[in-house]
Amino acid sequence: MISTELTRMLGLRYPIVSAPMASVSGGWLAGAVSEAGGLGMIGVGSNTPTGWISEQAELASPKGAFGFGLMCWALERRPDLLDAVLAAQPSAVSLSFGDPAPYVERVRDAGATVFCQVQDAAGARRAIEGGVQVLVAQGTDAGGHTGEVGTLPLMQKVLRIGEASNLPVLAAGGIATGVGIAGVLAMGAAGAWIGTRFAATEEALGSDEAKRRILEADETSTVHTRVFDITQGIPWPEEFPGRALRNAFTEKWHGRERELEENLPAARAELDEARERGDYSQMYVYAGQAAGMVEEVPPAGELVKKLAEDAERQLRRCCDSVLGPSL
Ligand SMILES: Cc1cc2nc3c(=O)[nH]c(=O)nc-3n(C[C@H](O)[C@H](O)[C@H](O)COP(=O)(O)O)c2cc1C
Repeated sequence: MISTELTRMLGLRYPIVSAPMASVSGGWLAGAVSEAGGLGMIGVGSNTPTGWISEQAELASPKGAFGFGLMCWALERRPDLLDAVLAAQPSAVSLSFGDPAPYVERVRDAGATVFCQVQDAAGARRAIEGGVQVLVAQGTDAGGHTGEVGTLPLMQKVLRIGEASNLPVLAAGGIATGVGIAGVLAMGAAGAWIGTRFAATEEALGSDEAKRRILEADETSTVHTRVFDITQGIPWPEEFPGRALRNAFTEKWHGRERELEENLPAARAELDEARERGDYSQMYVYAGQAAGMVEEVPPAGELVKKLAEDAERQLRRCCDSVLGPSL
């Protein structure tokens, strides 16, 4: 058993969170993770229909504590997303990528714990001022949209800020094994927030081909890029490019964003056609550097248990070998 502030706050068996991933983490995945003793999060995108939110909550809620991940910049245009999320009575809501302050009070009043992914110290301070209850330090190693600072330096900075305000800090970005979880717990994290590793599980919503691409990828296979958002016209703030697997589309356009904007209709048609064909040599698969540690597509519940057992073993081994037997 591993007990941290996170497990105590939410009554979890393990300090493991399956990250919200729009189009990838639905209620089936979140429910499997929660049932196994972690916290399963459902990802809500800027175009997610509100009906989908209640359907996914019905899948997850019988299995234990679950949550939703929202993007603040999307809530500015789609306040209905927050209404639908709160109506589903989650235990946790993450408000990331923008200023959480306008939404925190409603979430807390609804009885959910407010998480916020932060990408630098300024973001961590803003989140605390806004009233969030758990900080998630999301390093640039992460899959999906993220900032520029690596998980290790970011964690050291955000842990200090969290400690000064008495807030737990989770680590996100690059964690895919029990050894990785043990590492961040040893640093002082209250848990690990894991995306890419869970994107390659049976219950993840991505296609089999997208999962196969993650399996094939190694730690050098990703690129931090805005080309997919530019092409689709998704108004992600520029400070958060998305980390995705490199493919022919990123090879063609990454670094040539001005030309891409000048050729938008043709590039958009190319991407749309690739999506129809299921052609991932052009289409995006958002994934982080931890893809290099993904070797199989297991059921999510088995993965949670294995990660937790491996983390515990690593922590014990570390205490014994580094500190020696205590008197
Ligand atoms: C496919 C994918 C989609 C994501 N979508 C979201 C999202 O909708 N909302 C969000 O807050 N974070 C999103 N993220 C970021 C994750 O919450 C998390 O920070 C990240 O996956 C952690 O790094 P890792 O992938 O190395 O485990 C996404 C990540 C991935 C891989």
